[in-house]
Amino acid sequence: MKDFKGKVAVITGAANGFGFEYAKECANREMKIVMSDIDKNDLENATKKIKEMGAEVISVVTDVSKYEDVKALADKTLDEFDSVDLLFNNAGVVAAGPAWELPLNDWDWIIGVNVYGIIHGLKAFIPIMLKQDTPCHIVNTASVAGLLTTPNMPAYHTTKHASVAITESVNYSLQARNSKIKMSVFCPGFVQTDLDNSDRHRPERFKIDPNNPYYESKSYKDGLKRGHHVINTGMPIDSIGQSVFIAIEEEQFYILTHPHYNPVIGKRVKDMLEGVNPSADFFLNR
Ligand SMILES: NC(=O)c1ccc[n+]([C@@H]2O[C@H](COP(=O)([O-])OP(=O)(O)OC[C@H]3O[C@@H](n4cnc5c(N)ncnc54)[C@H](O)[C@@H]3O)[C@@H](O)[C@H]2O)c1
Repeated sequence: MKDFKGKVAVITGAANGFGFEYAKECANREMKIVMSDIDKNDLENATKKIKEMGAEVISVVTDVSKYEDVKALADKTLDEFDSVDLLFNNAGVVAAGPAWELPLNDWDWIIGVNVYGIIHGLKAFIPIMLKQDTPCHIVNTASVAGLLTTPNMPAYHTTKHASVAITESVNYSLQARNSKIKMSVFCPGFVQTDLDNSDRHRPERFKIDPNNPYYESKSYKDGLKRGHHVINTGMPIDSIGQSVFIAIEEEQFYILTHPHYNPVIGKRVKDMLEGVNPSADFFLNR
């Protein structure tokens, strides 16, 4: 997709972080924009800022973990703008902690948002794009965490490896039917966003149970502390929107923004092929 002016972009998780950056880039390219997010207040503020840039924009409160919400987002997009050309399946959350301690509620939440969020986006929007038969693009946000593994992040890695896998598989299917829909999977390392405060975006049914001792545990508190540290010391966000749009223009499938992780990704694959066991020492010594 090279021609953006007047085309329609839908963004999930548009109220903060990457989603808001995408909205700014869409506005710069004079696109019509559908901003969606679970957080009504943040979404209103973000939409106001994009409107002030002169963009034609609507906002739709959406919980991507619910298919009926994402289907309603697709319907509202068509009601308002008649088509959809660019979709960012971007909304996401993080939960850290050992697999055996992390409450099932947290597993359900993170899989619901990070994996089902993408599944719902693909199910609701691909049929519309196929019917249109016009050049379209879908960017699924995964993470470099979808290409490697680290200690204490089993739930996040699970969802991000799934995001990479689903994007690759769906992309093969679209290619096989000569579809005009192109896909990319965005795999950044740490970037300064609001991701370390994901708990504030929990849907009602996944709220923290104050009676569950896990949320007073060292595992939970250490996870939060490390989350704040890595996000706050991550790459500044300013260049991200541009990098992703260049990738869309160039039909680049894998979008990697943190090259210092490449040797770690390479080592993981090499170890697998050579039968070398993964070792926690690798991380402890870094
Ligand atoms: N920031 C990083 O370092 C980093 C690195 C790799 C990947 N990512 C991924 O980027 C994506 C965007 O995260 P971000 O860093 O911009 O974080 P962010 O918290 O700044 O933005 C995420 C947005 O998603 C929204 N959201 C959360 N749950 C939702 C739901 N159920 N339905 C709809 N919206 C929901 C939040 O309200 C928020 O506005 C996520 O998928 C995240 O995993 C982030």
